[in-house]
Amino acid sequence: MITKLVFATNNKHKLEEVRHIISGKTEILSLAGIDCCDDIPETAGTLEGNALLKARYIKLQYGYDCFADDTGLEVEALHNAPGVYSARYAGEGHDAEANMNKLLCQMQGQSNRKARFRTVIALIIKDKEYVFEGIVNGSIVTDKRGEAGFGYDPLFIPDTYTLTFAQMGNELKNLISHRALAVKQLAAFLSTLSAE
Ligand code: IMP
Repeated sequence: MITKLVFATNNKHKLEEVRHIISGKTEILSLAGIDCCDDIPETAGTLEGNALLKARYIKLQYGYDCFADDTGLEVEALHNAPGVYSARYAGEGHDAEANMNKLLCQMQGQSNRKARFRTVIALIIKDKEYVFEGIVNGSIVTDKRGEAGFGYDPLFIPDTYTLTFAQMGNELKNLISHRALAVKQLAAFLSTLSAE
């Protein structure tokens, strides 16, 4: 049974979301919880690569079993950009507004609005690595809609809904999100280990 796992983040919202889904016998520690203040490299060219880099760093430097996530918005007409560069699409030091403005600009006149959010979680237990993925398919709107959430939420409508992530609010979004789907897979896997 896994009693302790480090989640390679200090993001309070992510921690809360993950602890809520992985409730039970596994304690989830943050980076602060293991006194890690390092700037962990995220230099891979894929979401999988970055999630693995972060998890391997913690395992190697701190010795803990751990997991790390990476998320990107993949837009079909833009050959899956911004993808792994979602956080810095408009350049280093730019905020979510600038990223959204760049995306709207790139999508001007584009009739294919299909996009997806993809979260990858890399887990290392003992010396074994596992990867989990959560995907939400949807489309990019032509103007920002809604105030809730973060990142590209005002621009993304998940399939079968009529509201953007930013219009639907965090409660519903967190139930159906790419991150929630990936974390649920992680939780299901961990519960098979605790049954052993
Ligand atoms: P991270 O890997 O969770 O840090 O996400 C990287 C970037 O993807 C963020 O800085 C956001 O721009 C974007 N992003 C990730 N998750 C979401 C989401 O749920 N909604 C909107 N944007 C997101």
